[in-house]
Amino acid sequence: MEGKTVSNSQIQMMELVQPNDANNHGNMHGGKVMHLIDIAAAMSGLRHCRKPVVTASVDSLDFLHPVQLGNMIILRASVNYVHNTSMEIGVRVESENPLTGERFHTSSAYLTFVALDENGKPTKIPALIPETDTEKRRYEAAIKRREIRMKTRSELISESGS
Ligand SMILES: CC(C)(COP(=O)(O)OP(=O)(O)OC[C@H]1O[C@@H](n2cnc3c(N)ncnc32)[C@H](O)[C@@H]1OP(=O)(O)O)[C@@H](O)C(=O)NCCC(=O)NCCS
Repeated sequence: MEGKTVSNSQIQMMELVQPNDANNHGNMHGGKVMHLIDIAAAMSGLRHCRKPVVTASVDSLDFLHPVQLGNMIILRASVNYVHNTSMEIGVRVESENPLTGERFHTSSAYLTFVALDENGKPTKIPALIPETDTEKRRYEAAIKRREIRMKTRSELISESGS
């Protein structure tokens, strides 16, 4: 199976924040932002694998700024790291005031996706080829995050007794 570059599966997704996306404060619902993060990450994962993928986990998510009604929300997703059947995908979210062009970094998230075969079982993912310094830095950082995630997961499993 041939490796693929990061740029091969990068995604940029944009939406105008409409009244039906808003909470009582006139900002986009946090749940809607989370939904868009999951969709952007899934598309990046699908592009990388060209196989069905499911979300296995989402690391902590901080909302740094609200996304205001009438602003544009911009999501950029890219595969940071591939292990065997799972991969880490990073999503950066920004909001842009369409009248002034002012942009805010509103949130970032790391998600783990698993590729599935025709029987719904985890299946091998093509290797990732980080090319730029940023891609290499993200790759190395993702390895460390995976170690923490795996430790948390095994603690969770032993606590639940399954
Ligand atoms: C994710 C899922 C496919 C993993 O299946 P599993 O039988 O537990 O598989 P395994 O234990 O063999 O793990 C497969 C891979 O997933 C990774 N993984 C599993 N659970 C994980 C978690 N909570 N966080 C991060 N990675 C996880 C494993 O590390 C492994 O990665 P690797 O092959 O790269 O080393 C399965 O738990 C599942 O279907 N979960 C529900 C997914 C879902 O419904 N998502 C929301 C809707 S899309």
